[in-house]
Amino acid sequence: MEDNRPIGIFDSGIGGTSIWAAIHQLLPNEKTIYLADSKNAPYGQKSKAEIIALSIKNTEFLLKMDCKIIVVACNTATTNAIQELRAKYNVPFIGIEPAIKPAATNSKTQTIGILATQGTLNSELFHKTAEKFQDIKIIEQVGHGLVQLIENGEINSPEMTKLLHSYLTPMIEANIDYLVLGCSHYPYLIPQIKKILPAHIHIIDSGEAVARQTQNVLKEKVGFSTEDKSNPVFYTNTAPKVLSEILENKYTVIQKDF
Ligand code: DGL
Repeated sequence: MEDNRPIGIFDSGIGGTSIWAAIHQLLPNEKTIYLADSKNAPYGQKSKAEIIALSIKNTEFLLKMDCKIIVVACNTATTNAIQELRAKYNVPFIGIEPAIKPAATNSKTQTIGILATQGTLNSELFHKTAEKFQDIKIIEQVGHGLVQLIENGEINSPEMTKLLHSYLTPMIEANIDYLVLGCSHYPYLIPQIKKILPAHIHIIDSGEAVARQTQNVLKEKVGFSTEDKSNPVFYTNTAPKVLSEILENKYTVIQKDF
C-alpha cells in the first residue's frame, strides 16, 4: 500500500518535536508537517473542553494540508481529547500516553514515579490505565512550570534545576526505580534529570513506542510514502526562535496564525 501524503503531528508547543524526531528516525521517507500551538501553551492547566477545542482547531489545520494520519504528540491532548477526535474525523489518530505499563511491569521496588501535566494526571484515561496496576505504588507529580520554561528556551536555567529537584527528591525518597516522563516536552530535560536521579533509576518516555505505532497503522491501514525525501515542515503561531533552536536550526520553521 502506498500513500505519499504527509503525516500530521501537533502539540501544544515545541515539546512534541521529541515525538517527531522518533517518527522521522524510524520513517525517514515520510513527509511530516508539525504544528506547534505555542500561542496556547501550556495546555496542562486548561479545562477538558478547552483542550478538545484546541485539538479540533489543530486537526482542522492538518487536514487542510491533506495529512493521511494525525499524531497527537501531546499527552494532555491525547488523554483529554483523542476519543472526541476519533469520533469526529475519519482519519486515523495516534496518541501518546504516559508509559505506565513498561515501568510498572519492570519495577522491582513496586514503586514508580510519573511526571506529567495536571491535565494528564486528572484525566479519566490516565486513571483507567493507572488502576490496572493496583500492586504498584505510583507517585504522581505535576510538573508545574516546566513546559513554560521549555517554551521560553530556559531548559538549562537555575530555575529549571530548582523545580526538577523539588519534584524528583520526594520520588527518590519513596524509592522509585522507574521515572515515567508523561509529557512530550520532558525528554528535553533528560540530561538535567540524570544529574539529579541516582543511576539505578530508569527514565522512560513514549517517543519510540509512538513511532512504532505510527508505522503499524501506516502498514495496516494507510500506506507508506514511496518518495525518498521527507521534507519536514514546521509551523508555529509564535516567534519561531525557540522551535528553530530545538531543531538545531536544521529545518525551516514557518510562523503562521492558526
Ligand atoms: N507536550 C504536552 C504534553 O505532552 C505539553 C503540555 C502542556 O502544554 O501543558 O502534555
